Amino acid sequence: MFFQQYVLSCLSQLSYLVGDEATGRAVVVDPHRDVSVYLQDANEHSLRIERVIETHVHADFVSGHLELAAHGAAICYGEGAQADFDIESLADRQRIDLGEVQLEIRATPGHTPESISVVIYEHRDSAEPFGVLTGDALFIGDVGRPDLLGSAGLSADQLARQLYRSLHEKILTLPDGTRVFPAHGAGSACGKNLSSKNSSTIAEQRVTNYALAPMSEDEFVAVVTEGQPIAPPYFSFNRRRNREQRPLLDEQQSPEPLSMSEVLHGQADGAVVLDTREPADFAAGHLRGSVNVGLGGRFAEWAGDVLRPDQDIVLVCEPGRELEAKVRLGRIGFDNVRGHLAQPLQTLLDNPESVQRSSRLTASELAARRTAITDLVVVDVRNRGELERGAIPGSVHIPLPRLLDQLDKFDRDRPTVVHCASGYRSVIAASLLTAAGFTDVSDLLGGYESWAAAPRSLKTRIEGESAMALFVVRHQHTASTCPAGDPDAGAMMLNHLSRSNVRQHGIEILGEAVVKGEHTFYMIVQAPDEASVATFMQPFARVGTADVYPASTCAKVITSGGCTVEAPASSPDVMDPEEACQRAIEAGLVVHCAHPLNGETSIPALIGGVVMPSAHFYVRNHFHMPMLNRSTWRLQVGGLTDRPLRLSLRDLQAMPSQTEVVTLECAGNNRARLTPPVDGEQWRLGAVSTAEWTGVPLVEVLDRAGITSGACELVFRGADAGNVPGKPEKTPFERGLSIAEAGDSNALLAYAMNGEPLPIQHGYPLRLVVPGWYGVASVKWLSEIEAVERPFDGFFQVDRYLYEWTRNGQKVTEPVTLQRVRALITEPAHQQELESNDLTIRGVAWSGAAPIAQVDVSVDNGPWHQARLLGTRQRHSWQWWELIVVLDGSGPHTIRARATDLAGRTQPDEPEWNRLGYGSNAIQEVRVHSA
Ligand code: MTE
Repeated sequence: MFFQQYVLSCLSQLSYLVGDEATGRAVVVDPHRDVSVYLQDANEHSLRIERVIETHVHADFVSGHLELAAHGAAICYGEGAQADFDIESLADRQRIDLGEVQLEIRATPGHTPESISVVIYEHRDSAEPFGVLTGDALFIGDVGRPDLLGSAGLSADQLARQLYRSLHEKILTLPDGTRVFPAHGAGSACGKNLSSKNSSTIAEQRVTNYALAPMSEDEFVAVVTEGQPIAPPYFSFNRRRNREQRPLLDEQQSPEPLSMSEVLHGQADGAVVLDTREPADFAAGHLRGSVNVGLGGRFAEWAGDVLRPDQDIVLVCEPGRELEAKVRLGRIGFDNVRGHLAQPLQTLLDNPESVQRSSRLTASELAARRTAITDLVVVDVRNRGELERGAIPGSVHIPLPRLLDQLDKFDRDRPTVVHCASGYRSVIAASLLTAAGFTDVSDLLGGYESWAAAPRSLKTRIEGESAMALFVVRHQHTASTCPAGDPDAGAMMLNHLSRSNVRQHGIEILGEAVVKGEHTFYMIVQAPDEASVATFMQPFARVGTADVYPASTCAKVITSGGCTVEAPASSPDVMDPEEACQRAIEAGLVVHCAHPLNGETSIPALIGGVVMPSAHFYVRNHFHMPMLNRSTWRLQVGGLTDRPLRLSLRDLQAMPSQTEVVTLECAGNNRARLTPPVDGEQWRLGAVSTAEWTGVPLVEVLDRAGITSGACELVFRGADAGNVPGKPEKTPFERGLSIAEAGDSNALLAYAMNGEPLPIQHGYPLRLVVPGWYGVASVKWLSEIEAVERPFDGFFQVDRYLYEWTRNGQKVTEPVTLQRVRALITEPAHQQELESNDLTIRGVAWSGAAPIAQVDVSVDNGPWHQARLLGTRQRHSWQWWELIVVLDGSGPHTIRARATDLAGRTQPDEPEWNRLGYGSNAIQEVRVHSA
């Protein structure tokens, strides 16, 4: 016997070729529409496909019966099926003789009235079947949903009752060893609980399948009709299509290449532009108005969710994948593919006016937007079953298959954020909304999972949850009271520790362990307070001891001075410095020093947008972070002023405000590249980040204070202080700017970063931001501005933050001021293994002196090629650039990127060494390996 199962993962569809190798007679059961695989296998094994047997009229894909009929197969259905073409009706218990191999038809109505199962006997005289093809009657772990034919006038209740009888009278009566081969696997919308296994046995299903557990018919009806996923809108179209005469799918003919103007004309005439590239590529730049469904996901199903079957389709694909996209759309009968955009990447680059980028938010950016925009709409496009994981408070739930029909429910001008479970479907949904004319749409990177994993403090702002503290719990009992010795007591303990029970006590268990052989059990838990942990531990206390210790994370202990210091208490409103340190570590900063906190951004965290989430912003502290109370904190403006000021945060917030996107870079960035090495933090390339800062223009406050004509400089003093070499007393962090520099610099007194109050590590409640200058000028935790008559000579002005060289035996110095020009390569990553030689190189570039004029890229030390600058020219923030290259051959490659600014400054090949290691802006080199 020849038996082959075909798995089509994208539609979770399973089909079969069964044949008798002696006679060469074969059947295909439930074929997908691209039938060449069956024909090829049949050919290779000298089989003739005589029949195509459909276990029922399928609703979730267009079947390949007509395509196989064109090769001479008869189309067979169970009794009662109707179609526009000739069909052979198969009766209950009818036998199909392939030679030795015998098939027996069993009518198994339920999922649909005409459903059949096909029992396979390997030999004419086999007592036991080889297996049974159960179609959509019995799945592995589930049964076919009986509720899809409501529109055909058949109630779910009626069909469920038929299914119950089919299962118990026709399928479960087969011998236990009979293999079960269904028509679908996990992910199919034809059931709700399908296993990821594609075959099983009757015996196994009897004990593991929830729908086969002993129960009455009424109970069965209730169980199988409840909680079914939303049926995608294309299901009714496919059911109809499967009964119609329709054109055959041509698996060889690739869609026509189209020029940009042909695509735009098609779009204007109502064609939908379907971009099948991966979400990240789509987000980086796509044709305005196009809809994204990546070939990497459940492509056909999701395309069927958001397109209408009668729409003309123009494809945008990775070169070489156009035919695949057409065939996969053909599997659900979406045949109106008019062509594909030729050379899509180059064409998009050549037509920037038609290109759009998508906005993708991280969880913290979403939190910030929610705070800033009170009427922000959050749309959750997950399926109903996925909501069990939890939901973002206030979100509107519309499963993706329903979105297209419900667009008019929303105000197209209200800012909208879409999310799904992991960030694939949300790009589809966001692109659909944008194409439908929504003006401000973003999606949540990483979906609900990233929200669920976000720091509690972030969610607290939105969800109003109470703060949680950390505890270590220790329970000990004697051998005689060990609950494990008594099955009932053991089960009771396990149930007490179950997720749902623990949650009812308001507790979260982060980890648990038993000390082997010691009857001792430890847990790390988060809880609102010690009392709730003690209450939770009562069942344990009854059989032994239960101790609860207030605890802290290691990072907190190290930053707050060691294990003997009392654990810092959590505060619901103000994040303390230790908490900030912990969060920075959790957010993935590369921490150089925990105490005081210094950490750089990891380059992959830069990928995505111009502004980056505050949690990923590099941190440079010279001293411990001061914890300032916003109600008592004041900014003093004094010295040589006509009207000394003492301003509260409220006073500042009442003044005219300004918002600027500004890149900050530490002067020591890439110090690690210098040889010979110099002292100081060994920053690699991540001591640079970009944020949106909001505050009062510095000149506004200076005007109010009235700086007198005798003043020469302004000293900006932070509230942090510490010991520095050569000074017996604590030195505050303070920096000077000349009056002219302060006036010309567009400096801001910033109280918000990315739309939220400044995080403590970035200077809460107020900092100076001096655009274009190295970060040292941007004093954090600002407490005082003093106008002075002489150039300031504090430690951070004259002992540090100077370029210092020895020339002709003389010490020569120059102050560190503006950021030197630099390009940073964000993609590909250093040492990345590349799968293809087609490569998009991306990165950012900035310069303090002037906007970026150009970025050039050289591959393998070849000629410089000019990269494309993305977006509008930036004055104070970095600018994204990209270049598409084709690498020459497999093996190692080097990529170098060099920025030049409009002032004509460019990057050196090698860094200019100076004693303190500042301004190290040599050209970056990334090494990759292509397969
Ligand atoms: N302000 C105070 N009060 N204390 C500091 O240690 N570090 C400076 C500047 N402002 C510093 C400060 C330096 S050297 C840099 S690079 C930037 O802050 C870093 O800002 P960030 O930590 O918000 O990235």
